[in-house]
Amino acid sequence: MKNIKAIIFDAYGTLFDVNSAAEKCKDKIGKKWENFSNYWRTTQLEYTWLRNLMGRHKDFWQITEDSLDKSMKVFEIDSSMKIDLLNLYKILSTFPEVKDALNTLKEKKYKLAILSNGTPSLLNELVKSNNLDNIFDDVFSIEEVKAYKPDPKVYNIPIKKYQIQKNEVAYLSANTWDVSAGGNYGFNPIWVNRNNNIFDNLDFKPVNEIKNLKDINNLL
Ligand code: LAC
Repeated sequence: MKNIKAIIFDAYGTLFDVNSAAEKCKDKIGKKWENFSNYWRTTQLEYTWLRNLMGRHKDFWQITEDSLDKSMKVFEIDSSMKIDLLNLYKILSTFPEVKDALNTLKEKKYKLAILSNGTPSLLNELVKSNNLDNIFDDVFSIEEVKAYKPDPKVYNIPIKKYQIQKNEVAYLSANTWDVSAGGNYGFNPIWVNRNNNIFDNLDFKPVNEIKNLKDINNLL
């Protein structure tokens, strides 16, 4: 991959483990915690796409709560758990290799940024609670355009700010549809495939696939 000036990361599922909130409550939730967590995440994403289509924007925190309410009913989880789950979602853990991999990239002088559906305050709290404060040049939130991924307006946010070409961006996401959307927009997308998943059929296939963020240094 040549002429890369900026490395841009998706947040939820790529840097931060969206299952870590429910996992920290697994003793109380029981065996169903993982299915519940996957359902919550899927519902949350569906709400972002549906709200884009309906033209009814609500911020990501409200959507996270709305999708949690539904998921807790579906999985018959006691409503007293709601506050704990939401508080834990604000301080999701990173995947284990993330901090070291980002520190290594930082030394190489690329622009490093997050581009995410999260609100600015959610993203800043995630960065802070995981001690990543000094890593990123920018934390871009879709709240700037009030539309969720995969709307191309979202992927245009860092291009406008940095005044660089789309193909000078390496875009990393673990979410296959987000990789496709970034690729269709014109970024060089890299799929972070930690769990040996199957890619989507959405026109764009990633040229580059890595197992985790440590491997990015082999590509750049
Ligand atoms: C985000 C979602 C897509 O962080 O994971 O934007």
